[in-house]
Amino acid sequence: MKYDIRKLRLISNEKIADGIFDMRLEYGDGEIPVACGQFAHVYVPGKSLRRPISVCDARGGELRLVYQVKGEGTKIMSQMKAEEYVDVLAPLGNGFNIEKGRRYALIGGGIGVPPMLYTAAKCENPLVITGFRNESLVILQDDFVKAGAELLLCTDDGTAGKKGFVTDLIRENIGRVDEVCACGPTPMLKAIAQVCREFGKPCQISLEERMACGIGACLVCAVKVRKNGEEIMQHVCKNGPVFNAEEVVF
Ligand code: FES
Repeated sequence: MKYDIRKLRLISNEKIADGIFDMRLEYGDGEIPVACGQFAHVYVPGKSLRRPISVCDARGGELRLVYQVKGEGTKIMSQMKAEEYVDVLAPLGNGFNIEKGRRYALIGGGIGVPPMLYTAAKCENPLVITGFRNESLVILQDDFVKAGAELLLCTDDGTAGKKGFVTDLIRENIGRVDEVCACGPTPMLKAIAQVCREFGKPCQISLEERMACGIGACLVCAVKVRKNGEEIMQHVCKNGPVFNAEEVVF
C-alpha cells in the first residue's frame, strides 16, 4: 500500500488511562486508505526521529492513534493541543490478513490493545481478549463492545476483569475461533504462538521493535524469520509489523 505524508488537524488528544493518550486526527472525507494492523509514523517537533504508533481506528474520517508516553518524544506528543497540525507518514507496514467467514480471536496486551479495535471493526463477530497489568491501565472496553465484539478482560492483579493472563483466556476459548491475531509484549506473543501451535490454529502476531525510518531503509527494526527452512532477517516496519507466528524466530 502506498504511503504519503500529510499534515492532519488534531481534533483531540486526551488522557484515557495512566500514561495513555487518545489522539484523534481529521483525515477528511472518504475511506482512509489504511488496513488494520498498519501503523503511522508521527513527526514530533524538535525530534529527529518519528514515533511509530499503531492505528487504533480509521472510521468516520478520523485517524485515531492511542499511544503510551514512554519517553521525551511521546511526552511532547501528549502535550499537543486541538487545532494544531500533526505531520503523519502513513499508512506503513503490512497489517492483519482478515478473511470473511472466519471467526478471529483478537488478543491485545497493554499498549498492544489499540490496533485490535480497527481489526475488530473489520471482523465478523470477533472474540476480543484484552489484558492489562492493573485497572488503571484498562482502555477501549466500550469501543470494542460498540464494534460488535465479544469482549473478555483480564488483569495481572485481578483489579479489573478476571485475574490472570490473556494466554489463560485464549487457552480456554481457542475452540471457539478459527484463527488468532495478537499484539503485545514479545513474551506474551511467544506464549500465544505456543498455544496456537498446540491446538493447530493459525496465528498472526504484530511485533513491536525500535524503529527509525519506518520504511525499510535503515535496518534498525530487523527480526529473524524462518522462510522455506532458512533463517533470514526481515524488517518489522516493512515486512511486518504483522507476521505469521510460525515464521518468527523468538
Ligand atoms: Fe528503518 Fe525498519 S525502521 S528499516
